[in-house]
Amino acid sequence: MPLKLAVLLLVLLSAAVVGVRLDAQGADRAAPYKNPVLTVDERVKDLLGRMTAEEKAAMLSGSGWMESQPIARLGIPAIKMADGPMGVRNWRGSSAVTNAAATVPVTATAFPAGIGMAASWDLELVAREGRAIAQEVKALGRDMILGPTLNINRVPLWGRNFEGYGEDPYLAARMGVAYIKAVQAEGVIPSVKHFAANNEEYERHRIDEKISERALHEIYFPAFKAAVREADVWVVMNAYNKVNGLWCAENPYLLTDTLRKRWGFRGFVISDWGSTYSTAATINAGMDLEMPGGERMRIWLKKPETIRDGNGAGWLTADKVLAAVASGRVTQEAVDESVRGILRVMFSAGLFDHPHPGAGEVDTLEQRQVARTAASESVVLLKNAGALPLDPEKAHTIAVIGPSAAVPRTGGGGSSLVRPKYMVTALDGIQEASGGRSEIAYALGAAMEGEEAVQPPQALRDEAVALAKKSDVAVVVVGYSAKLEGEGFDRKSMDLPAGQDELIEAVAAANQNTIVVIQAGAPVTMSRWIGRVPAVVYAWYGGQEAGHAIGDVLFGAVNPSGKLPVTFPKELKDSPAYGHYPGENLHVEYAEGIYVGYRGFDKSGVEPLFPFGHGLSYTTFEYSRLKVAPARMAVGKPVNVSLRVRNSGRRAGAEVVQLYLQAPPSRLDRPIRELKGFDRVVLQPGETKTISFKINQDAMSFYDTGIQDWVAEPGKFGVLVGASSRDIRAQGEFELAQ
Ligand code: BGC
Repeated sequence: MPLKLAVLLLVLLSAAVVGVRLDAQGADRAAPYKNPVLTVDERVKDLLGRMTAEEKAAMLSGSGWMESQPIARLGIPAIKMADGPMGVRNWRGSSAVTNAAATVPVTATAFPAGIGMAASWDLELVAREGRAIAQEVKALGRDMILGPTLNINRVPLWGRNFEGYGEDPYLAARMGVAYIKAVQAEGVIPSVKHFAANNEEYERHRIDEKISERALHEIYFPAFKAAVREADVWVVMNAYNKVNGLWCAENPYLLTDTLRKRWGFRGFVISDWGSTYSTAATINAGMDLEMPGGERMRIWLKKPETIRDGNGAGWLTADKVLAAVASGRVTQEAVDESVRGILRVMFSAGLFDHPHPGAGEVDTLEQRQVARTAASESVVLLKNAGALPLDPEKAHTIAVIGPSAAVPRTGGGGSSLVRPKYMVTALDGIQEASGGRSEIAYALGAAMEGEEAVQPPQALRDEAVALAKKSDVAVVVVGYSAKLEGEGFDRKSMDLPAGQDELIEAVAAANQNTIVVIQAGAPVTMSRWIGRVPAVVYAWYGGQEAGHAIGDVLFGAVNPSGKLPVTFPKELKDSPAYGHYPGENLHVEYAEGIYVGYRGFDKSGVEPLFPFGHGLSYTTFEYSRLKVAPARMAVGKPVNVSLRVRNSGRRAGAEVVQLYLQAPPSRLDRPIRELKGFDRVVLQPGETKTISFKINQDAMSFYDTGIQDWVAEPGKFGVLVGASSRDIRAQGEFELAQ
């Protein structure tokens, strides 16, 4: 008998004698960590106690591109990940690989980009999206989705603005919490990213951002803090960039002092793919799982473009971790703590008890319906001088024009780009929504910058102008593409890509009923033509159902209800961060401090093109009877605000009622107003609803760097309730007593 077999027999025999049951891998089937009745902490403690130092060290880095390290001896599975956040994306390689035409695609439902979800201001919808995505994760045999993106839109040029939830920390926090709770409720692991302050792609691996502590706590942290405190999020992904001199992966202020000590995070921190540059400093800072890992990482790390971009990886391999412990640079307890976090999440998500074998259904009718509703609710009607909704009685002929009319623009570029089973273009959607009542004709008008042009620009434009001239209405669908707005690079400017402004101008000159529809992830400059077109619709990147949403909004089958989650500046130079982006010699100073987005516009008095929170409807809403009670109260007590909102028009519609707080004069400078509540209310014509908000002490507080804590100072607070940050319809006040 071969020696191995003899040993195995002996082990099995002795196990039988002492009553231990072994599974296929030889692990003890009756071990407490396998018992789902025990608490997560009891199971973690038991399993950790059974692991060797080598096994623990091995768990600190991945085994492949999207898998953590399994330990077969103990039946520890790999965590199988997939990119997100707006759907389940291929996991077989980097975005350069999986976005390539040659890659066998993994298809899943493409939901609208995060910025579009934020524009819906609909938390219940975001929860439905999160649930659908989590179900697709499981159906595809994965365990974890790399999202949501909770970074703040600081500059209109950031390439990944489309992934995030806009410029306001409160809105981003609400969206993030809704998404995370829904995903975790399905036993799927979300990963909030990128902690912290990934606000530009320019030199994302090398840029050092100087950010005041106050701006971190008031602007860049709150969505992450809410994810931890309110949703008990299981995983946080660190950002590529440096914050105040240290890479995020080795930044104890971020990962230990703030995340764990201040907020009480108990899950694990995962590195962004290629964001590590050391062994001891990384583990000691509180980073737990380095990705990617294994052979895939080693091959990738040798590629010239990986090196050129500045990626770092391969620092938390088992041999390096063991050596760091042996030399005393890292304690065994620190390694144990990382493993503890990873196991805690795995048990919490049920990975030991209910593995996800895959082979489920994705893109079900229900999931498609969520995608369609989300796309519809994301659309923001920016301007409407009576041109919309289209009336088929008058719009007998409609010219649909532009580089985004017949080409689907489901999302921005990079790791978030989902490959759906089908995509509805704006042209398809308009055709469908017209229901044959209008005659629809199409012209490209201008090729998308970077895409092949079949004719010279002038010829394309002339053709479009001729079509517009003989049509009752012209719809020009323009914007960015995944190649011009995406991960790994910033936009070149805030202007529309080449030729699109000229196209709009030419079409608008030929047809006074020109409606502009824009698909992009962040604001664009409109100064050349905004005064010359009667309607502008912002559709972001709407996922696979974008075209239906556009058609439905144009024809009025959907009454638009989206509101801007970002301020639209007239020009880039009006952006509060202008002049402090992208930085010099790899240093960027966030000199605008807390005055990001509307906080900056309010402070400087600069008029935006469209303010934060703006969005029109086909109906009208009246606000009345604002009540704020009590009028005076002690620190720590909440304030109740209620008001009535009435649909005073003739169509059913939804209004996003926004509550801003105006702080009293304080020791520290404070923004003129800050969003602290919102509610999306659906109203039939003539219907009235009473809505209420609770303002707690957190909402009244600011972060005082002097004491490194939040304070609510006494004084009179203004309560501003309105349809946008600059369309305040009702005002009240309360006093916070000494
Ligand atoms: C991105 C992450 C993404 C990861 C894995 C990174 O380049 O920054 O957002 O989850 O790749 O694809």
